[in-house]
Amino acid sequence: MTALRVNGPRLWDSLMDLATLGATPKGGVCRLALTDLDRQARDRVGAWLREAGCKVEVDGVGNMFAIRPGRDAKAPPVLTGSHIDTQPSGGKFDGNYGVLAGLEVIRTLNDAGVATGKPVGVAIWTNEEGSRFVPVMGGSGAFAGVFPVAEILAQRDVAGTAFGDALAAIGYQGELPVGGRPLDAYFEAHIEQGPILEREARAIGLVTGVLGLRWYDCAWTGQDAHAGPTPMPARRDALRGAARLVEAVHALALRSAPDGRGTVGFVQVAPNSRNVVPGHVRMSVDLRHPDDAALAAMDAELRSAAAAIASELGLECEVREVASFASCRFDAGCVEQVRAAAKAFGYSHLEIVSGAGHDAVYVARVAPTAMVFIPCKDGISHNELESARPEHVEAGANVLLHAVLARAGVSADRR
Ligand code: GLV
Ligand code: MN
Ligand code: MN
Repeated sequence: MTALRVNGPRLWDSLMDLATLGATPKGGVCRLALTDLDRQARDRVGAWLREAGCKVEVDGVGNMFAIRPGRDAKAPPVLTGSHIDTQPSGGKFDGNYGVLAGLEVIRTLNDAGVATGKPVGVAIWTNEEGSRFVPVMGGSGAFAGVFPVAEILAQRDVAGTAFGDALAAIGYQGELPVGGRPLDAYFEAHIEQGPILEREARAIGLVTGVLGLRWYDCAWTGQDAHAGPTPMPARRDALRGAARLVEAVHALALRSAPDGRGTVGFVQVAPNSRNVVPGHVRMSVDLRHPDDAALAAMDAELRSAAAAIASELGLECEVREVASFASCRFDAGCVEQVRAAAKAFGYSHLEIVSGAGHDAVYVARVAPTAMVFIPCKDGISHNELESARPEHVEAGANVLLHAVLARAGVSADRR
């Protein structure tokens, strides 16, 4: 059964090729969603998928679907994929690996002349990262019916550009309706983005689920004032409130150890001038936990910390939740198919819960889903230094190939 194997060097070359689009000096990639670089990457990967014999279609939020027909043309496809947008200081592997591993699955089936019973597809989901436009995993969430399409198209980036306008500008607002498409199953390959597989010396992570997440925009309001004449006790410094909340978020996540996470990664200070006491700060908060009740408790702690700080410093603080998803458990049958594939190859493996959100979280709401993780160097991701070993890249794609085949069905005869 493991006779069929992906071409590891070809997959690696595709990863390195795609990483030239938005390449950063430190070896990473900056390719924000719906920028011209995103268009170039979509064009390139779309062309590769078409050359591999797939029909490529685009839906109304820019999600791309490349389908290789099966013997039963009407059967829902077994889908794989991920995203090709990156963080501003992103790496070569986050998301890109899952899409190109899917491409490699298709190329491998073609090379071996394998006909599958069900169609096999590769999805490229729009704006997984949520860095330019909230919410995170917006394309897959719209596909799964979690977000109304109009809501996604209306989101604005910090410069005020609407998602819908950016999508139209790069020519990727497609005709296909968003969602409502039956899928047989969805498998997503991804780097772990954390340290566990490397620490435990395992090649493959059998991902059983994903931490729940809540995202907030917090708006602090004080009063702009001159940095010289304004005595310290008279100030209403919005940045002090924000600074205290950064510490409070860290502390509340620590109180939910070992699984709680709390991060402030985005801060905008206004007027952002050296000699003005800042009157306004906008900041993000990202809270995560595998247990939904614990995450709700973290939410309550965040709100009460913000209110207490605001009252002590004479500020106002509006805490607005802007995105969330509950913790997710993947389909037991699909996880077993990933396990069986890892075992068949003799790859060392481990069950793991994902700390990062993935498109699979939303696709899991409409189709049986599981993920395949591979280790990344020093567990580092969302960082230009993100790296993975070629043998792991190949192993994860082999597991993906055989998990897909287990669902899609292979006929012994060739095409
Ligand atoms: C997605 O990249 C996340 O924030 O987990
Ligand atoms: Mn990702
Ligand atoms: Mn990411």
